Amino acid sequence: WQIALAAAAIGYLLGSIPFGLILTRAAGLGDVRSIGSGNIGATNVLRTGNKKLAAATLLLDALKASAAAWIVSYFFGPEAAAIAGFFAFIGHLFPVWIGFKGGKGVATYIGTLLGVAPLMVLAFAAVWLGVAFVTRYSSLSALVAMLVIPVALWILGAEKVAAIMAIMTVISYWKHKANISRLLSGTESKIGAKG
Ligand code: G3P
Repeated sequence: WQIALAAAAIGYLLGSIPFGLILTRAAGLGDVRSIGSGNIGATNVLRTGNKKLAAATLLLDALKASAAAWIVSYFFGPEAAAIAGFFAFIGHLFPVWIGFKGGKGVATYIGTLLGVAPLMVLAFAAVWLGVAFVTRYSSLSALVAMLVIPVALWILGAEKVAAIMAIMTVISYWKHKANISRLLSGTESKIGAKG
């Protein structure tokens, strides 16, 4: 229990660092929450028009979850790594520092995968890129990839990791509520559009 608690705390603290917000502010682009979808993630940072900043947001938001998993794995063993990744994801979604109004968890989902099942990042990327290439929707690409991952992990026999990723998928779907209704009504903004 102490190990699980330590893993959760390390995960939450790292995960709750809102890199999208920090980077856009540091670049003098104002508050990313006041543009586009209002989200703090890389997709919305891209709507500032700064591709490098969006890439840095994706990378740092992902790596904070991987780092949590790696640190916990190093000190407490690989069993606890998924707990750290999960709580980094939770920290990103509900960061205490900004009124618990965080992101939608796609980057931290990828980062957790990198920490606990690194090869699956390739599967995530392949699905994401495939759907994005055809539809130009960032949200839909992530939603499809986050369905494929738990199923693939399950098929490969990694039941525990599959279960944790499945829970993350459900939570992230809930955070994508507005995107899902925009997708259904045909009003979701496409990659490359500013709005
Ligand atoms: O899956 C990407 C998701 O984060 C969408 O972001 O800003 O379009 O709501 P956004």
